[in-house]
Amino acid sequence: MEQQKLMSLLSDMSLDEKTGELFQIPSYFFNNDMVTGPAVEMGITPEELRVCGSCLSVIGARKLRDIQKAHIQRHPHHIPMLFMADIINGYRTVFPIPLAQSCTFDPALAEKCASIAASEAAAAGLHVTFSPMADLVRDARWGRVMESAGEDPYLSGLMAAAMVRGYQGEDNDLSKKGALAACLKHFAGYGAPEGGRDYNTVELSERTLTEDYLPAYQKAIDAGCALVMTSFNTLNRIPSTANRHLMREILRDKMLFDGVLISDWCAVSELIPHGIAADEKEAAALALNAGVDIDMASPVYLKNLKGMVKQKLIDERLIDEAVLRILTLKNRLGLFENPYKDGSEEDENKLLLCTAHRQQARDCAEKSFVLLKNEDGFLPLNREKESVAFIGPFADNLLLSGSWSFFGDDKDCVTLKEGVTRSYPEAAAFFAQGCPTVNPGTEVLGFQKVPPKEDFDLQDALDTAIQLARKADRVILALGEHRDYSGEGASRTHITLPSCQLELFHKICEVNPNVGVILFNGRPLDICEIAQRAKAILEAWLPGVEGGNALARVLYGDASPSGRLSMSFPRCVGQVPIYYNHMSTGRPFSGDYRTTRYNSKYLDAPNEPLYPFGYGLTYTDFAYSKLCLDSDVLHPDDGICASVEVTNTGTRPGTETVQLYLHDVSASVTRPVRELKGFCKVSLKPGESRRVSFRITEEMLRFYDIHMNYVSEPGQFEVFIGPDSASGSKGVFTLVQSDT
Ligand code: GLC
Repeated sequence: MEQQKLMSLLSDMSLDEKTGELFQIPSYFFNNDMVTGPAVEMGITPEELRVCGSCLSVIGARKLRDIQKAHIQRHPHHIPMLFMADIINGYRTVFPIPLAQSCTFDPALAEKCASIAASEAAAAGLHVTFSPMADLVRDARWGRVMESAGEDPYLSGLMAAAMVRGYQGEDNDLSKKGALAACLKHFAGYGAPEGGRDYNTVELSERTLTEDYLPAYQKAIDAGCALVMTSFNTLNRIPSTANRHLMREILRDKMLFDGVLISDWCAVSELIPHGIAADEKEAAALALNAGVDIDMASPVYLKNLKGMVKQKLIDERLIDEAVLRILTLKNRLGLFENPYKDGSEEDENKLLLCTAHRQQARDCAEKSFVLLKNEDGFLPLNREKESVAFIGPFADNLLLSGSWSFFGDDKDCVTLKEGVTRSYPEAAAFFAQGCPTVNPGTEVLGFQKVPPKEDFDLQDALDTAIQLARKADRVILALGEHRDYSGEGASRTHITLPSCQLELFHKICEVNPNVGVILFNGRPLDICEIAQRAKAILEAWLPGVEGGNALARVLYGDASPSGRLSMSFPRCVGQVPIYYNHMSTGRPFSGDYRTTRYNSKYLDAPNEPLYPFGYGLTYTDFAYSKLCLDSDVLHPDDGICASVEVTNTGTRPGTETVQLYLHDVSASVTRPVRELKGFCKVSLKPGESRRVSFRITEEMLRFYDIHMNYVSEPGQFEVFIGPDSASGSKGVFTLVQSDT
C-alpha cells in the first residue's frame, strides 16, 4: 500500500481504532474463552478486542489464520493484526542459546541460524520476533546473560547485526517469504542491574552508557531492525519505558531508529510500582510522550488514552504518530495485501525440524563448545581402546534448549547418551545419572513448576555411578545447572554447581583419576573445584536439539572444539562483575595477591578470572610469531598493518580464533586496558602456518573524549594479537595529528 493510502487510512480511523492499534493482546486471551476468560478479568470488551493491533506468543499457521481471518472481518477498517513471539534461539529447531552462539565468534553462523528460525516461525504464521537481545553483560549472577552475546561491545554488535540480517534478510524486505521483523531488546542497559538482580536499578554514566552499552544496539539499528523493545529497568532513576531522553533524544534522534517502539511485558503499567506514575493515566502519558508505540499485554493505553484525548490531557498527534509507525510496519510486511503472510501448514510440515535445519543446529553446537581444560590430551576419547563411563544429571537429559525455547519440544533434543550410542555404537560407553540436576527437595521455578522427583534413590544412584566409574578407563561427568536456573527472573547469588553434583564429582574422582567434565549451563559458573581436579573441562552451554550429536562428535574427535569465551569465567562470585575491557586504575595489580596490600586487588583472590574473555583450547596447539607492524606511525588518513604468523604445532587439524586488541595508553579520559577490534578464524593442518593480518585505522581508535565528542586523540597505542584477551604478542604505534 502506498504511504499516501496509509495516511488516509489513518485519518479515517476512529480514536477507538487508534488506541486499539497500540494494544498488544497477551497470548492467554486466545488460549481461553474470549468472553469469560482473562480478557474480561482485565476489563477488555469485545468491541475493544476487535480493534487491537497485535498479539504475542500465539503460534501455528492454522490457528493464526483463523484468528486473522476473524479479526479483519470484525475490524471496521479490516486492519490485520501483527503476530509476535520470542524466537530467541530457534523456533522448533532450537539452536544453542545466544551466549553459546556468541562463543563461535562467527556472526555468519548466527545469521544462518536466525534465518532458519525466521523461515520456521514465518511458516507458523508469525511476523515479528523479540530478538536479538543486545544487552551488554558483565555479571554472571544475572540469569539473562544466556540470551546475550557476552561482555564485549564489538562482538555483541556483530552478533546482533548478523541476527537482524538473518531474520529480515540482507535487503530488509519484510514482505519476502521467510522474513521476520526483528525487535532489538532491551533498550537500554538492562544487562547492568545492581547486584545482578533481574529488573533491578541500573545506574550508568552517559559516558559508560554511550561507550560500552549503546554500540551493540546501534549495530542492530544500522542493520535495520524494525522494532525496539523498552527495558524493564530504570536508567539513572528513570524507567526506560518513560524515559523521553533515552527514547526520543538518544534512540530516535541520535541513533536514528525510526521503527516501532514496543514496551516490554506490562512495562507501561509497571511505571506505577516504579513510583514514577501515580495512576494509569500518568503511566499512559509518560510512555506515550517517551514515544512508546505499543503497550505490551497491559491495557493502560487502551483504557486511558481515549479519555485523555477528550480531556485534552494528551495530544492526539502523539497517538497518530504511533499508529502510523505500526501501520507502516504492517505495510512493510505486506499484510494489507496478504494478512496471512507466510503462514502455511504445508511449509510447517516441510520446514520445522527438517534434516537441514537439524544439521545447522548440530554445526552451530559443535562450534559453540569451549574447551577450557585438556590436561595430557585427555580429550578426544579413543573409542577403539577405551571404555568410558558417562555419569551425571546431564548424561541423558532432554532439557538442553535453554529457558527461551517454549515453541520447541524437549523431546526433540538428542541427549548426550543418544548422541554417543547412535553415533558410535561400537564404543564402550556406559551411562549413569549419579545424582539429580538440583539438590534433593529443591523445587525448580520455571515456566512450569518442576517438583523434585520423589522416587529418586540418592544412595542407589551414587553407588551405581561409583561402580561404573571404578570399571571404566575414563569418566565423563555431565554436570550443570537446570535450564530454568538461567533466563528471565533467574538471578543467583551463588554461581556454583549444586552440592549434590559437587559431591558426585569428588566421589567419582576418588575412584577414577581420569575424569573429564562437560558443563551444561546458561551462565559462567564458579567451577574452581572442578578445575582443580578434572583432567578436562568442555563448556557445552545449553546446546539445543542437536546437543548430544554435536557432543559425541567432539568428544570422540570427529569434530574439534573451536569456541572462545564471550564472557569471563570468575573464580568466585565475589569477583563479579568481572570483564576483560576494564580500566587500569591508579594502582593496577596482577600477580600473587598475597604479596602486597595497597593496590587495586583483593586479600583473598587474584584479580584475574579463572578463564578470560576470548579464551578456548582446541585439540591441537598453535604458536604465534612476534607481532609485526608495517609502521609504528599511524596517519589519520591512512592505516597500518599488524600481523603475526600462526602455526599449528600439534598433531591434529584445528581452528584458531586470532584476536586483535588495542589499548589507548593515555587519553583525555581513562581507556580500557584492552578492546577487541577484530578477529579472524584460521583453520590449519598440523605443521601448517598462515600469516594473519589486521589493518588498523584511525576510526578504530575513536572514543567519547572528555567533552563527549567521538574522536581519536594522537598518542601512543599498544596492539595485541593473540588467542585471548589475556595473552598475545604486543606492538606499539603512535597516532599522529592530522596534517590538515
Ligand atoms: C518478557 C521479556 C522479553 C520478552 C517479552 C515477551 O518479560 O523481558 O524479553 O520478549 O516478555 O515475552
